[in-house]
Amino acid sequence: MDAFQTFLEQYPAYADTASIDALRTKDYARLDRGRHVYLDYTGGGIYADSQIQQHHQLLHDHVFGNPHSSNPTSLAATQLVESARSSILDFFNADPAEYLAIFTANASAALKLVGESYPFSNGRYLLTFDNHNSVNCIREFAHSRGAQVTYIPVPLTNMGVAADKIEFALSCLAPHNLVTSRWQQFHHQPINWSETC
Ligand SMILES: Cc1ncc(COP(=O)(O)O)c(C=O)c1O
Repeated sequence: MDAFQTFLEQYPAYADTASIDALRTKDYARLDRGRHVYLDYTGGGIYADSQIQQHHQLLHDHVFGNPHSSNPTSLAATQLVESARSSILDFFNADPAEYLAIFTANASAALKLVGESYPFSNGRYLLTFDNHNSVNCIREFAHSRGAQVTYIPVPLTNMGVAADKIEFALSCLAPHNLVTSRWQQFHHQPINWSETC
């Protein structure tokens, strides 16, 4: 009996996730080839081999032009962009009559757009202490438009935000208030701020 069989006998529950092993072998074999352990907790997932192949095939089989023009190659590109936009809205269960998906170069560029365009006028910007700098920077847009900026502390001892502090801060919100949090991204707590607000 080889070492893996012995391991499975000792830890039979390991077999419950065999489909993940199969996926890893099929689509992420380069992890094993490079002897990598890749842990991701914040949504920076690595691309699958099948994605590379499908994308390669797509580019190989079609001619895509600048999506802003109206010739056939540009229309083909526009169609792809629009279908990506629609899949994203679908994924977030967002009504296209109410929401628009905008592609940006990265997360920081997206948050800069929020900072530049949010109508803070005498409102309030509420955020937790553990935010990324791209989120912290929005406070400068808020300050420059006369908004008050409030940080909710995140004690280093448990990296937790006290529920009463959140509830109090949210209870003081009024129109033209923006709330950002890194809380759900990292701490995975079931707080739905958009509903609470
Ligand atoms: C809120 C936020 N801003 C910025 C970044 C940095 O990424 P990017 O290079 O996409 O701006 C991250 C990455 O985790 C992020 O979560």
